[in-house]
Amino acid sequence: MKDAILLTGGSGSRLLPLTRVHSKHLVYLAGKPIIDYPLTTLQGLGCENVSIVVGSSFSGQIMDYLQDGSRYGMNFNYIYQEKPVGIAQAINLCKRFVQDRFVVMLGDNYFEKPVQFKPNVAQIVLHKHSDLTRFGVASIKNGNVIRIEEKPKVLDCNTDNYAITGCYLFDQRYFEFFQSMKPSSRGEFEITEIIQKYLDNYDLDFTFTTGAWSDLGTHSSLQSVQNHIYKEHLNEV
Ligand code: G1P
Repeated sequence: MKDAILLTGGSGSRLLPLTRVHSKHLVYLAGKPIIDYPLTTLQGLGCENVSIVVGSSFSGQIMDYLQDGSRYGMNFNYIYQEKPVGIAQAINLCKRFVQDRFVVMLGDNYFEKPVQFKPNVAQIVLHKHSDLTRFGVASIKNGNVIRIEEKPKVLDCNTDNYAITGCYLFDQRYFEFFQSMKPSSRGEFEITEIIQKYLDNYDLDFTFTTGAWSDLGTHSSLQSVQNHIYKEHLNEV
């Protein structure tokens, strides 16, 4: 998996007031900007070419900070998402830049331990979480994913339910699946709909996180990840 897509759009409204003048992906987290953490995960997966989707009013800040990627031992190129119409559409903009299987990483996700994919086709990375209503959720029964749902209000207690983290492995069929997609009721092309299409085609596998995981979109999640890093990884900060 040499190719990856890193998504850095979004206004960061839940991280106001700093995000009034500042990209949310450059907010401070234990000595580094948030964006360095997902990039570390991509390095761990051996990714070499990263297409970075920018789209907020602070896109220039992200490019100024990340530059050409040589500091990370990777090659970066930048793609502009004109309107914030969802993760699935942002990925589709990168069609020309990714070959074979490729990794997608959300720029506001923290993985404590390296992500490990199996040598299969499309995969999602699952994490046991106490508040599943905030995430895409995969429901598992008898060892198989039977349902994918974005931010479900009610959970099925007859299945094992996991948060779908913001690290995905797709192949070129992604772009075929996207062609028939329509925006959801909130006006976004939902990534969970693409995952459902892989599931419908019996081509979805999953793996689990081996350490802590969190999104970094809120003050409270930032604070708790920062506490975790200072407690468990002080020598790496
Ligand atoms: C997005 C995805 C969701 C996923 C989450 C992980 O949600 O839509 O499926 O579980 O990222 O961080 P968002 O953060 O855009 O609400």
